[in-house]
Amino acid sequence: MAHPADQFNRTLHDLRISVTDRCNFRCPYCMPKEVFGAGYPFLRDPQLMTLDELTRIVRAFCALGVEKVRLTGGEPLLRADVPDLIRLLKRELGVKDVALTTNGWLLEKLAPALHAAGLDRLNVSVDSLDDVTAGKLNGLGFSITRVLRGIDAAAALGLPVKINCVVQRGVNDGELPALCEYFRTRGHTLRFIEFMDVGNTNHWSAAGVVPAKEIVERIGALWPLEAVGPAYRGEVAARYRYRDGRGEIGLISSVTEPFCRDCHRARLSADGKLYTCLFASLGWDVLGALRAGADDAGLENFLTRIWHGRLDRYSDERAELIAKGETRAKVEMSYIGG
Ligand code: GTP
Ligand code: 5AD
Ligand code: SF4
Ligand code: SF4
Repeated sequence: MAHPADQFNRTLHDLRISVTDRCNFRCPYCMPKEVFGAGYPFLRDPQLMTLDELTRIVRAFCALGVEKVRLTGGEPLLRADVPDLIRLLKRELGVKDVALTTNGWLLEKLAPALHAAGLDRLNVSVDSLDDVTAGKLNGLGFSITRVLRGIDAAAALGLPVKINCVVQRGVNDGELPALCEYFRTRGHTLRFIEFMDVGNTNHWSAAGVVPAKEIVERIGALWPLEAVGPAYRGEVAARYRYRDGRGEIGLISSVTEPFCRDCHRARLSADGKLYTCLFASLGWDVLGALRAGADDAGLENFLTRIWHGRLDRYSDERAELIAKGETRAKVEMSYIGG
């Protein structure tokens, strides 16, 4: 099958799969508890893709050029069959790079099963090393210590771990040096993510964003940094290494320096809908097509047509859309998988 390009000549390389829309945290920037509390209409089990369905759908994506699959959520480790899914992706489908993004709460317990299943690498969220701030940022007062133990457990097994930190001005930006110090001494790349206007309920405001450039300046003043080229074309994070040789940091600057031009990512929600942008409003019902009887060639054609028509570049257009007051309903990040 030829690898389709979209309307801006971007081919498909990464597939991000949300395996569940549920989470055991309630980070206010993602799932504020006043919205995602009792009565929130989470997906029900029959709506979720089964392992067999996931295998068929991912196989079709691989035929279109996908080489990297990232499992996300919600919190992917809430789904008990995630190690089985990883095994399928690695052994049956031969996906080159299988990664997982987690909040780390269940990692200490599950790291051995993930490693044994063949997971290539992990990204774990750590927004603060201070229990009071971390507790506010996970919405439930949970201590960060257990997450850090999970990271150590994964690293001890030899799993490469990167850390994701969403930076918000006045909330955790005072902790940048402490975070750098902690993770550089342990050999984990720390990536700072600009606070994004995902979903409709996370109280985003431009004032909360600390621009990537400022973060690099602040850290570089403490430990000199130099830019490093991307590990692969279209990498989300811009990389910098510490000149003293103690590892690197990354900056994910979707707000101040958008990277849509090189966006090779498709997203699959837990109920099998394909979204061609993190900020999309509507998805294409791939699971519905499969359950209606589409064969493999039919699925590949469906996906090819969708990708070929793709025009998304939300982060490039954000400022203009906001200035014009053109807000529209977006899917929630916990549903679409970040
Ligand atoms: P690597 O493969 O390790 O580089 O991971 P990744 O950065 O692609 O994935 P991860 O799940 O760790 O995501 C880190 C942050 O980048 C999250 O906040 C994501 O929402 C954000 N992100 C990932 N892909 C995109 C994208 O295509 N657009 C935007 N705006 N943000 C993205
Ligand atoms: N802005 C930036 N990053 C976010 N994440 C969740 N919500 C937001 C937001 N509003 C991050 C998580 C996790 C990754 C998948 O996305 O912290 O690291
Ligand atoms: Fe859960 Fe991750 Fe969203 Fe926090 S950011 S609520 S851990 S899905
Ligand atoms: Fe890709 Fe949309 Fe993110 Fe731009 S905003 S990089 S098109 S997912």
